[in-house]
Amino acid sequence: MNITAATKVYGIVGDPVGHSLSPVMQNGWIADHGLDAIYVALQLKSEDPVTAIRALTGFAGLNVTVPHKEAAAKAAARSETPVANVLRREDDGTFSAFNTDGAGFLDSLTEGAPDWRSKVRRVLILGAGGAALGVGQALSPYVDTIHFANRTAERGEQTAAAIPNGRVTRWDDLERAFGHADLIVQTTTLGMADQPEMDWPVALCRPNAIIADIVYRPLETPLLAAARVRGLTAIDGLGMLIHQGARSFEIWFGIKPDVAKARQRLLAALA
Ligand code: ATR
Repeated sequence: MNITAATKVYGIVGDPVGHSLSPVMQNGWIADHGLDAIYVALQLKSEDPVTAIRALTGFAGLNVTVPHKEAAAKAAARSETPVANVLRREDDGTFSAFNTDGAGFLDSLTEGAPDWRSKVRRVLILGAGGAALGVGQALSPYVDTIHFANRTAERGEQTAAAIPNGRVTRWDDLERAFGHADLIVQTTTLGMADQPEMDWPVALCRPNAIIADIVYRPLETPLLAAARVRGLTAIDGLGMLIHQGARSFEIWFGIKPDVAKARQRLLAALA
């Protein structure tokens, strides 16, 4: 790779970003296509992240992660969403903002369960944070109901209310909720390496249920392991990461990158 003053700089901003896999993924695709570009991880700590993001004038494009996704949308001159994970520099020097998280989740779901749209009527989302909301919004047009179960009930109610077919399920009623869902999406930190585990009632799932976890460290969470033991369709969190990244790459470069190659590289990076 020959970096010169003409090399276009891309990156991910957030706090923290030290463990981000996006540089491995995006630089792999940049090399695949012989582009004169580079992608870095840039920690951004700021009391005024909107101004700080606008000041990153040297960047041709950015991914934005926690806690700056709302600031990213505000920093842009045009945004398709109030919460953005992609910024693209336009010819006039301003940013346009996009969100590829929801579509990335749907891409991953379609990859792991190609027939999900004919099977899934009732969704259970575990958690009610930003990721839960994004996944719920993406699924909303395609399913009957989306039930949010969250440890903190109030937050579950707020997130459910933001979605037309959103409903609330009590955290202490998970057994019944698992038994009723066609698709379960795990969006909390439970099951992440160094985080608490949870004894999810997977035994009560329907025989054709699909279980997706957005956690990818470890790749096989206890929830996914239990789903596989039961013979259920299990979808890991790397898929959403890769597909949101592929859509980011396409927004910047107009090229659909190779998602299978990205998975190989990320599996090597995680090992
Ligand atoms: P993100 O925006 O990435 O989704 P977040 O907003 O921090 O992250 O949300 C984290 C989710 O994990 C929340 O649903 C949180 O539940 P609370 O709203 O009750 O905090 C959930 N979560 C985190 N730790 C948890 C735990 N030990 N048990 C149950 N839920 C937990």
